[in-house]
Amino acid sequence: SAAEKGGYDYFMLKEIAEQPQAIADTLLGRLSERGEILLDEVRLTDQDLRDVDKVFIVACGTAYHAGMVAKYAIEHWVRIPCEVELASEFRYRDPILDRSTLVIAISQSGETMDTLMALRHAKEQKARVLAICNTNGSTIPRESDAVLYTHGGPEIAVASTKAFLTQLVACYLIGLHLAQIRGVMYADEVAAVVEKLRATPDSLRTLLDSMGEVRELARDLRTASTILFIGRHVGFPVALEGALKLKELAYMHAEGFAAGELKHGSIALIDQGTPVVCVVPSPAGRGVMRDKVVSNIQEVRARGARTIVIAEEGDEGVRAYADHLIQVPHTPTLLAPLMTTVPLQVLACEIAAARGNDVDQPRNLAKSVTVE
Ligand code: G6P
Repeated sequence: SAAEKGGYDYFMLKEIAEQPQAIADTLLGRLSERGEILLDEVRLTDQDLRDVDKVFIVACGTAYHAGMVAKYAIEHWVRIPCEVELASEFRYRDPILDRSTLVIAISQSGETMDTLMALRHAKEQKARVLAICNTNGSTIPRESDAVLYTHGGPEIAVASTKAFLTQLVACYLIGLHLAQIRGVMYADEVAAVVEKLRATPDSLRTLLDSMGEVRELARDLRTASTILFIGRHVGFPVALEGALKLKELAYMHAEGFAAGELKHGSIALIDQGTPVVCVVPSPAGRGVMRDKVVSNIQEVRARGARTIVIAEEGDEGVRAYADHLIQVPHTPTLLAPLMTTVPLQVLACEIAAARGNDVDQPRNLAKSVTVE
């Protein structure tokens, strides 16, 4: 009913709007007075976590994209190798696991069979298993050695939005926790990142207030035969997530690419008018990655692409290469997916609506897939 949707046309729009609160709730009470990050249910000692020499992240769908972002954060902060793998592929590959391996299973529902089977395989091999989950008491956290719950609240729309952003927050917290207990980051460095995280709900509210142009753009793009997404570093999983949302909701062909890989084949897809969504890293610091993505934008534009550029406020240099410019508030590089994903959610939702699709219940999909 309309009341359940809180005045929004779709649960998805309601859940997109709830993201600032969902992030704030997921961060609430996570820092002890001594500045230590607190996980929810940890049946692992700090020593167990100090002994970890390798991290595997397993997940499906949108949660897998959160895992891809987590790899960048964990390797950067914790300085231990971290691999991300689709849960459905993990155990069949016979991965190398032992008691010093930490397997992080990310699942909104906590019931996804592929993820559960990957977790059971990891446990059989004596790996430690930590779950990131949005559903209290579900199977995946019950079978794990430790849990960090995302406090996103119930997610009704099949396409995941607020669960994704809260999964990112949980991944950042786990990365910081590991870095802290292993002595790779000092408490004040951890606290500085947590402060930045705490600022994201306000930035996100500002961003959500400026989505009018994205809605107009969506009406324009509703008849496109494909939409391509490019990004680099953490912008790469954002590109994949943008493409997934569009496939799920709009039933349109869409693909996400690492911006630098495009020239090795996929750039041949670009034709006159092909829409390409470009996720631009922050120009802060030396802006090396930002400059690389800008040259990738020039490459696709030279081949006729119509560019939809997602860039940080104040990055005026990108304007010349953008047929449409969507500006997002500044965030530190690793945290940027908390901003840059949101216009892509809105875009997919609005294109689907403009095409007359059932936004909350797309065809052929289930909220939670409990078969392998
Ligand atoms: C299904 C949903 C996706 C979701 C995936 C993983 O395929 O349609 O939106 O990302 O499952 O779900 P989980 O509950 O494990 O996060």
